[in-house]
Amino acid sequence: MSQDPLPSANPGPTATRSTLAGASVARREGREKVTGTARYAAEHTPPGCAYAWPVPATICRGRVLAFDTRAALALPGACTVLTHENAPCLAPPDDPALELLQNDRVPHHGWYVALAVADTLEAARAVAAAVRVTYETETHDVRLTAGHPHLYTPESVNGGYPAISERGDFEGAFAAAPATLDATYAVPPLHNHPMEPHAATARWKDGHLTVHDSSQGATLVRDELAALFGLGKDEVTVVSEHVGGGFGCKGTPRPQAVLAAMAARYTGRPVKLALPRRQLAAVVGHRAPTLQRLRLGATHDGVLTALAHEVATHTSTVKEFVEQAAVPARVMYAAPHSRTGHRVVALDVPSPSWMRAPGEAPGMFALESAVDELAVLLDVDPIDLRVRNEPGTEPDSGRPFSSRHLVDCLQDGARRFGWLPRDRRPAVRRAGGLLVGTGVAAATYPVYLGGSDAEAHADADGGYRVRVNATDIGTGARTVLTQIAAAALGVPESRIRIEIGSSDLPDAPVAGGSAGTGSWGWAVHKACTALAGRLRDHDGPLPADGVTETADTRQENAEPSPYARHAFGAHFAEVRVDTVTGTVRVHRLLGVFAAGHILNPRTARSQFIGGMTMGLGMALTEGSTLDPAFGDFTPNDLAGYHVPVCADVPAIEAYWIDEDDPHLNPMGTKGIGEIGIVGTAAAIANAVRHATGVRLRDLPLTPDKLL
Ligand code: MOS
Repeated sequence: MSQDPLPSANPGPTATRSTLAGASVARREGREKVTGTARYAAEHTPPGCAYAWPVPATICRGRVLAFDTRAALALPGACTVLTHENAPCLAPPDDPALELLQNDRVPHHGWYVALAVADTLEAARAVAAAVRVTYETETHDVRLTAGHPHLYTPESVNGGYPAISERGDFEGAFAAAPATLDATYAVPPLHNHPMEPHAATARWKDGHLTVHDSSQGATLVRDELAALFGLGKDEVTVVSEHVGGGFGCKGTPRPQAVLAAMAARYTGRPVKLALPRRQLAAVVGHRAPTLQRLRLGATHDGVLTALAHEVATHTSTVKEFVEQAAVPARVMYAAPHSRTGHRVVALDVPSPSWMRAPGEAPGMFALESAVDELAVLLDVDPIDLRVRNEPGTEPDSGRPFSSRHLVDCLQDGARRFGWLPRDRRPAVRRAGGLLVGTGVAAATYPVYLGGSDAEAHADADGGYRVRVNATDIGTGARTVLTQIAAAALGVPESRIRIEIGSSDLPDAPVAGGSAGTGSWGWAVHKACTALAGRLRDHDGPLPADGVTETADTRQENAEPSPYARHAFGAHFAEVRVDTVTGTVRVHRLLGVFAAGHILNPRTARSQFIGGMTMGLGMALTEGSTLDPAFGDFTPNDLAGYHVPVCADVPAIEAYWIDEDDPHLNPMGTKGIGEIGIVGTAAAIANAVRHATGVRLRDLPLTPDKLL
């Protein structure tokens, strides 16, 4: 690896940037978190608090015929058992998965049919276990197959993209191509499994509902609860002060908030509900499995002439959610003839939803594996192949890129990783008894931004208060927003008090789509810039109650950008494969990202390596299965669903190319929460192919598939 200081080097923890933020500021709430004083949703215990425990359906499809709660209610500490027969009626929810305890339907295994409430957690669990439910079962189907007779083309896919996009004449160009690849890749269902499970503590006081909820966006939860219970938005407060991870599964309101509020209304007591880990897979969303067919046609020197990416996936019978795995193929490479499409089948499965980089994470596993396969076929370097197919404008839309530094990421990464010289022959390198290989893959993630409110206040004594209902799901949002405010106000961060994590604060979008910093930060920047201007013009001492400016960025975000705005990146992996056991170990993982301006190297690095670690899990150990007989997810806890632990995570390095992109937002950010997971699994699979000569197209790359 090269030793000289690189021009695009990670500025490192001591660097500062004179323009807008850019310093490695430590987390504002770091001390609270490591000393245990930061309180999460389940750590609020109002006086008289009761505890709830849900009762999941044990059938896959059918309806409830009867409940027998006599034994359950006779247990010590039992308060009540809520079912569709006695639960408060809700208005129809925006999200059909929140139609909880409203009717006798069971649309999938694990759907909640009842809720036990008791004086203690232990009693609630015992009461739930003692509820007897009689069902009428119907035949079910949880198997996604490429030829499923009920696959259909949806109107649009997650993110609002059209399901199908075509350019030129793919079939003709593919048939005429001198070199072709036709391969199908599979990604299994994946579970988000944040460290903190979904939890809520709800209480009603004088008609006002207050819920501490583990959520990625309390404004959205507040709005949904108000609608469900027929309340005004000012009659509901949702607090998400500290959140122990979400990865998408807390991006929409989830059952715990609704059920806790129902139980609190019914019992007249505060109610706490933490969803048990084993129930999460069925009720908080999952990454839907995808079967992805890639067809690439190219000239002998590796210029793509035809590209098709066709995805089959599942959704539930409750609602349609379509993992948009073919969408990144509309962005990545300049093939003149292209077809990308999605089909979906509604099975008797839990409702899928967002999981870190929905679409891009599974889609780029397939596309970047296919590009590597083509490189092998043509015997060209996989980086050269990508560079040869770099588009001038976004292939499907023709829009100019606001900035695109994919080639720089590949080349910078190659230098840092020591990619060359590389013997392209497979299965010829050994370290001890292990086969060694290296692999590369590209990453991309779109820039999403949403309108937000924010408020900035100057106290008479020289302090500042910035308020916005952002959520810190472990990202460092508090810290980075303070940096943005400090830069706009021209004052040190220590003078600023930041308030986030409550729906009583100015409305803000969710911490999702890697859009938090850009969206909230824009409103914070606008409010603070206005306040700074007002203070400059102000003569004499401030009024006793200070000065306040509010901002709203809905207007700025109302029109779609004329630019194609995406972050890009490159992953490099070195693996060692044990040919006796079939075990793959990642020896080195290195990523280089171009994601706009990086505001805080310390928290950004954590985001990148966190995403890469999750990508390593996706590559090697994470994978869920639906039991065809019972219809439930078989790995239902962290003993069965294997996320990477420290021992699995090798030397992992993240770097970035600081982009100066004027077409984003005042901070120049693209969002960094998701791109780290995109392409990681492909880089590892490509390294496994290089190490062994075996191409694995089904994730995860477990030993049984290699032997
Ligand atoms: Mo992310 S999957 O948008 O929380």
